[in-house]
Amino acid sequence: MKSLRLYGNQDIRFEEADKPVIEKADDVIIKVKAVGICGSDISRFSKLGPYVEGNVFGHEFSGEVAEVGSEVEHIKVGDRVAGCPTFYCGECESCRKGELSRCENLHVMGAYHPGAFAEYAKLPAENIVPIPDNVDYETAAMVEPSAVVVHGFYRTTMQPGAEVAVMGCGNIGLLAIQWAKIFGAKKVYAIDIDDSKLEVAKEVGADVLINSLEKPPHEQILEHTNDAGVDVAIESAGSPITSAQVFALPKKGGQVVFMGIPYADINIERFYFEKIVRNELTVLGSWNAISAPFPGKEWSTTVHYMSTGQINVKPIISHRLPLAEGPETFDRIINRKESFGKVMFYPEEG
Ligand SMILES: NC(=O)c1ccc[n+]([C@@H]2O[C@H](COP(=O)([O-])OP(=O)(O)OC[C@H]3O[C@@H](n4cnc5c(N)ncnc54)[C@H](O)[C@@H]3O)[C@@H](O)[C@H]2O)c1
Ligand SMILES: [Zn+2]
Ligand SMILES: [Zn+2]
Repeated sequence: MKSLRLYGNQDIRFEEADKPVIEKADDVIIKVKAVGICGSDISRFSKLGPYVEGNVFGHEFSGEVAEVGSEVEHIKVGDRVAGCPTFYCGECESCRKGELSRCENLHVMGAYHPGAFAEYAKLPAENIVPIPDNVDYETAAMVEPSAVVVHGFYRTTMQPGAEVAVMGCGNIGLLAIQWAKIFGAKKVYAIDIDDSKLEVAKEVGADVLINSLEKPPHEQILEHTNDAGVDVAIESAGSPITSAQVFALPKKGGQVVFMGIPYADINIERFYFEKIVRNELTVLGSWNAISAPFPGKEWSTTVHYMSTGQINVKPIISHRLPLAEGPETFDRIINRKESFGKVMFYPEEG
């Protein structure tokens, strides 16, 4: 089958790989219809996150069930599904407590297991998420990042009528804007340094657009909120700068949710750090997207709101490509040759 395989730093190849075969009674083989590039795939490509040489990578996908193992009951050939690409060990203390996203041995397909940048992918039956007919395949390929974002919202005590700031309007932030509305936000402030991202933020429902290159973001938020600040601030830019700035956005007693990972040391100016203390903020981290019973309500809720149209990924998808363009596309992404939103591959198209 056609696939993208990772061989080393910035070395991916579009080439043949062995089609997965049923080995275990609970295996499910899916014909991949759409598979997106995740930020972690880019890190794996350019900074070499965990990988096995020559492995097929990629994990944000959907498709049609092609084959099932002998003990698979509720999934049949021809079903339309998304994949939950995450594996937990079931044995560590967090798993035994049912806190699956805190598993000590959490890992994702495409690192050590074969991934989904291919014509076929394989997962255990419990990782299969059925999708209704009115959710198309490219939307379903974004069930995983959307589940990541709602996992973070479940960590908050947000209530209807809240005001929410989303710092960083990439793939994660653009989903956070939509989830904020679903969680009852009356106003969502979208913050970015790239006006083209803010335009998309508006399209997916942001009420106020803030370019933080012009003026520090907290000054602009205070102007809009009568000097109060927001109830919940989401860090979804994943930069050392925003990881400090985000503390100045909530009102007293407000909440900050970190979804971004800066991959660098953070020096927080006293001004920002003191906000945590003086404003008695609650600071929450959010990791991955699974919970008990596996894969968790993050997945069923995502599929529900995709089917109602309240999660709309169409404006987020910037490129629709055949797999053959993978090597060149990854190269263009890391060399920042143009602006990328979500890049979606269609393996059936070559
Ligand atoms: N917690 C999790 O489980 C999880 C899962 C997936 C991704 N992530 C992390 O979420 C973060 C966002 O991922 P993504 O795929 O949306 O990335 P992305 O690159 O698509 O988006 C980042 C956005 O932040 C903006 N930005 C950069 N610097 C900024 C600044 N100084 N001020 C304001 N905006 C700024 C960029 O313009 C861009 O729009 C990353 O750090 C990623 O690693 C976390
Ligand atoms: Zn991902
Ligand atoms: Zn575990």
